Amino acid sequence: MHKGTVKLAPSILSADFACLGKQVSEAQEAGADRIHVDIMDGHFVPNISIGAPIVQSLRQVTRLPLETHLMISDPDFFLDEFTEAGSSSFLVHWEGNSNLHRTVQRIKALDRRVGVALNPATPATVLEEILQDVDQVLVMTVNPGFGHQRFIHTTLPKIRRVREMIAEIKRDCDLEVDGGIDATTAPLVVDAGANVLVAGSAIFGDREGVAAAMKGLRAAVDK
Ligand code: DX5
Ligand code: ZN
Repeated sequence: MHKGTVKLAPSILSADFACLGKQVSEAQEAGADRIHVDIMDGHFVPNISIGAPIVQSLRQVTRLPLETHLMISDPDFFLDEFTEAGSSSFLVHWEGNSNLHRTVQRIKALDRRVGVALNPATPATVLEEILQDVDQVLVMTVNPGFGHQRFIHTTLPKIRRVREMIAEIKRDCDLEVDGGIDATTAPLVVDAGANVLVAGSAIFGDREGVAAAMKGLRAAVDK
């Protein structure tokens, strides 16, 4: 992957929610390409997080795309609400969705970008019949549900495989990774073919602050 084209997507899951607007503005100023918003329902993943009202508030404080990662059962029920709140794109999981094609088409009908997310144990091959319909693929590099987990190195061959699959269909399709991305793991995933990096704790949990963390991550990718 050409390093200059790598995009950074700070995940607000690790942000300080008492000053969320400020944290997102800092990320924007520091060169974030999009803001990654993790939605969890306590069913699809063993954790709960936030809902559409937060997206609505964030829409007022940033011009960046708000990428909405739906870690929820029955995502179709919530697409309208998040769209009205200001979500720019949706990432929906392959796992647990027996009507993924319908979900993808619904998102497209809402005129939003759509991506399919794969958990670490899910093979790249499940993308074969859906890849041509999506704008991006999200390879989870941890099991979803929590920030600050350790990067799972066995996902690297899958990232390479997905990059090959995208090249085969010759479509403009982002390959994003999510979980355990920091200055050490970022070069590995970029080398494997990722062009969008989600990072939560590495950006919002850095003692030096958001701007310094973003700079460090960007430098690690550019090295
Ligand atoms: C995990 C979420 C991630 C999370 C990543 O289920 O999907 O977006 O915020 O956090 P870090 O970067 O700390 O692993
Ligand atoms: Zn996420």
